[in-house]
Amino acid sequence: MAMMKHTTLAMAAVLGALMGSPQARAEYGDVVMNNHSEQNGINPVVFPHWFHRARYGCKVCHSDLGMELEAGANGINMMTIMDGQHCGACHNGEIAWQLEHCDLCHSGKSGLETQVHGSTSAQLNTTQGEEAR
Ligand code: HEC
Ligand code: HEC
Ligand code: HEC
Repeated sequence: MAMMKHTTLAMAAVLGALMGSPQARAEYGDVVMNNHSEQNGINPVVFPHWFHRARYGCKVCHSDLGMELEAGANGINMMTIMDGQHCGACHNGEIAWQLEHCDLCHSGKSGLETQVHGSTSAQLNTTQGEEAR
């Protein structure tokens, strides 16, 4: 039984890699958001700013979606997101993967404060060591 379980898990991992399933990463310039998360029992959010900046012009978020240029200044929470604002303008299963992937956003280690991060992923992610691959 145990053996079969391992085989199934290994196959799932291979399939996941082939299909390029999303995975949480963190890097320099990421914005940590923890105004609401931990006090409500879930890990802080790590918003990969550069990842998004490489795909969209600043205007998309900081003008069209009305987000202020300051970590923690936008009152973002799950209600606004589910309402289609902030992250929810794209993470709706159409433009980007949908909200059921909690861990991809709530990937921060506990204890992190809302801030712009200036260090390496090893200090942020719950999945340490990913970067070494
Ligand atoms: C696209 C990114 C994203 C996804 C996916 C996501 N969240 Fe969040 N969530 C946020 C952000 C951003 C906040 C606000 C962060 C902060 O300041 O603490 C937040 C806040 C929260 C909070 C704090 C209370 C509140 O209502 O705001 C809870 C609890 C929460 N999320 C649960 C979840 C659960 C459970 C899932 C999966 C079903 C999920 N989140 C998926 C981005 C996300
Ligand atoms: C996909 C959306 C998105 C795009 C595109 C984007 N940003 Fe941001 N940016 C954010 C969010 C979200 C925050 C954090 C706001 C918060 O915590 O409420 C932020 C924060 C910031 C901040 C304050 C934190 C810091 O790093 O000092 C600056 C400055 C900033 N963005 C500049 C830019 C510039 C310049 C561009 C274009 C090159 C850009 N952003 C593109 C979403 C985006
Ligand atoms: C303008 C559209 C847009 C907005 C707004 C946006 N995202 Fe994204 N995000 C994307 C797209 C597109 C991807 C890539 C999806 C894919 O790979 O399938 C992505 C990917 C991600 C990833 C995975 C990055 C990686 O390394 O694969 C995370 C985490 C994430 N977003 C969090 C957030 C959070 C948190 C917010 C709100 C603060 C947010 N996003 C707002 C469009 C957006």
